[in-house]
Amino acid sequence: MENTINTSPAQTEKKKKILSCIQPSGIPTLGNYLGALKNWKLLSDEFDSAFAVADLHAITVRQDPQKLRKQIMEVLALLLAIGLDPDKSIIFIQSHVPAHSQLAWILNCYTQFGEMSRMTQFKDKSQSHADNVNVGLFAYPVLMAADILLYQADLVPVGADQKQHLEIARDIANRFNSIYGNTFTVPDPYIGKNGARVMSLQDPTKKMSKSDPNPKGFVSVFDAPETIMKKIKSAVTDSEGGVYYGEGKDGINNLMGIYSCCTGLSMDEIARDFEGKGYGDFKAAVGEAVVEELRPVRERYEQLIKDQAYLKQVAAKGAENASRIANRTLNKAMKKCGFVLP
Ligand code: TYM
Repeated sequence: MENTINTSPAQTEKKKKILSCIQPSGIPTLGNYLGALKNWKLLSDEFDSAFAVADLHAITVRQDPQKLRKQIMEVLALLLAIGLDPDKSIIFIQSHVPAHSQLAWILNCYTQFGEMSRMTQFKDKSQSHADNVNVGLFAYPVLMAADILLYQADLVPVGADQKQHLEIARDIANRFNSIYGNTFTVPDPYIGKNGARVMSLQDPTKKMSKSDPNPKGFVSVFDAPETIMKKIKSAVTDSEGGVYYGEGKDGINNLMGIYSCCTGLSMDEIARDFEGKGYGDFKAAVGEAVVEELRPVRERYEQLIKDQAYLKQVAAKGAENASRIANRTLNKAMKKCGFVLP
């Protein structure tokens, strides 16, 4: 089937709005998928939605230009592969909409050094990239606030690791609104119940991350079924042996959370289904559930990534629709600050 695109604007004015973004800093993981992307698809049916590939955020750590270019298009294709519809949602590449950088500069001037210094992601990343603790890494949450506030988003679907960044976006919006009168919608985070924090398969006390040097720690959304099965089967668990949710059972809790997201079963239902069964059986079931969850995504992705012309068309239409909304908010904010608009 040939990919086609409708060129009429995607948004209506009435529904509530959601926006979220993902960095193109590697192949996304099962954590990205269950914590964020899956909810994007569900919410996109109900809300006016905009989703972006946050390429400006990605350069806060050093990127190989050739790889970055490739990854931006891969993540764009992934957004379509998870089922987002470019005729219903605005799907765009962040750097294609200059208003993001422009509003970020303005918001920098309404954000305190002390607030940014407390951000845990900044503290973590300045340790893991100690040779490149740049100002962009420090101001990263302000750019993220600009992303959100430009679209007057009511709701931002993210994983639990982004909660602190959402709080700062709310603080910045409230501060600006209290100085200049109502300018920005104050956004709420939308954090799903089970997939909010998918943990590493090798160290279930740490978040599953695409930058994990041990590839056994994460499932990538494009992993082949055999690889997924192998990784889940070698997940670190405990020596106790029972499939139930409990303290000190981080590995099993994590696998139960993953299984719950893929099957819709509650923790109690899972515990009941696997009563008297060993971890081997449970891991096999989790592996199969993940394979089936990701299979349609991978198959659709493989088609889409070959059609670069279509992807560029989606990005162009997304940038046009996103710019219209973003520029309206940017102009409003600039006027309030006292700028003379061109
Ligand atoms: P990023 O690219 O690290 O991750 C994209 C989304 O995936 C979620 N996530 C997880 N959820 C559950 N378990 C995990 N192990 C896991 N790992 C990642 C993240 O919470 C996120 O929702 N700063 C953002 C990108 C961004 C953004 C924005 C998000 C830029 N501008 C505006 C929302 C709104 C980030 O680095 O996500």
